[in-house]
Amino acid sequence: MNITPNLRTLLERRKPGYSLEAPFYLDPVLFEQDLKLIFGRHWIYAGPQACIPEDGDFFTVDIGSTSVLLVRDGDGGVNAFHNVCRHRGSRLCNEQKGAVGNLVCPYHQWTYDLTGKLMFAEHMGEGFARDTHNLKPVHLRNVAGLLFICLADVPPQDFEQLAAEMTPYVVQHRVADCKVAAQIDMVEHCNWKLTMENNRECYHCRGSHPELTRSLFEYGFGYAPTPETCDGINEYNRLLAERHAQWEALGLPCREIDHLDDRVTGFRTQRLPLDRGGEAQTLNGKAASSKRLGQFQQSDLGALSFWTQPNSWHHFMADHIVTFTVLPIAVDKTLVRTTWLVHKDAVEGVDYEVGNLTAVWNATNAQDRQLCEQSQRGIASPAYEPGPYSPFTEGLVDKFCNWYTARMAAELG
Ligand code: FES
Ligand code: FE
Repeated sequence: MNITPNLRTLLERRKPGYSLEAPFYLDPVLFEQDLKLIFGRHWIYAGPQACIPEDGDFFTVDIGSTSVLLVRDGDGGVNAFHNVCRHRGSRLCNEQKGAVGNLVCPYHQWTYDLTGKLMFAEHMGEGFARDTHNLKPVHLRNVAGLLFICLADVPPQDFEQLAAEMTPYVVQHRVADCKVAAQIDMVEHCNWKLTMENNRECYHCRGSHPELTRSLFEYGFGYAPTPETCDGINEYNRLLAERHAQWEALGLPCREIDHLDDRVTGFRTQRLPLDRGGEAQTLNGKAASSKRLGQFQQSDLGALSFWTQPNSWHHFMADHIVTFTVLPIAVDKTLVRTTWLVHKDAVEGVDYEVGNLTAVWNATNAQDRQLCEQSQRGIASPAYEPGPYSPFTEGLVDKFCNWYTARMAAELG
């Protein structure tokens, strides 16, 4: 079956302001095109540097049949390689995370150093050129402790703009001085785009997220009804202006940057106030860790939110960070990896409790999984047809679909 003409037709007839047609969520052949054209050619968020704090620490990221190995080298740098031995192709690291001295293939023990250089290969004879059998590198960029990879031969150049614009925001939270307090992998039985679309609106927040909406104002998350239709928005806008003035006086960048659908490397950011004391996305709105990040002298700094196309979102608070990586597994199966970071010197049971730290997003993730899985089941019905987005509350979902369809069309050529 040749998907390309069908895909081109589907892309051409996409109606802005409406959800995508069913094959985008259901067709396994189209899913392979997502892997190739979106995940194979754009910058993908892999995870925070804090996952690999020591030399030899590694974690792997699977994108379709491609496995990428991110490893901390002896000089404190991070390298990314294809997780494939240069002998007969065995997968090198079969765990999702771990620690090694060198990278030793489990099959015939070819041994690579942490920079990917082949150090040892027994019984290969005198003429064997070791230096042409190093691990294949994968493009890697580190934005103030957030690791992005790209599988393309030539990665999108505008990542440099994202790095330049986002570094002043993220650097304040010193991701490199954090440790992983908790990490949870959750599989959602839905297409990865439903996971992302659900993340890009807060139309559903009030109805589904009682824990999250204790601290989070939905207005900063694409929910923007007019003052005529929503009582709270004028008050929120006053609070936003007041907090931005305070935080900018402290040297914290706050203003919204939105390039969700007008760049190849799409992203959005803004520092947003929180309710109930304004410290953290916890059940009581108070900081979850008593050791603040970076040089912060106060806890009520709201949350710096950061969203990237196609696969991540993040919330940076004064005391902790929650960062999300979305990875497609199958047309109807998606991995959502949530990582909670606290200051590396914070002590569990003294400075923070994991249960309190993770309570809001554990509950929210479970609620979102149910919403996304219900969507997948509904879209599988022949009765499904693309429905209209709310112009007031689903603008960022529309931008996700704009970005996705434009990038697919461009990469299809
Ligand atoms: Fe790796 Fe043989 S396949 S050493
Ligand atoms: Fe949600």
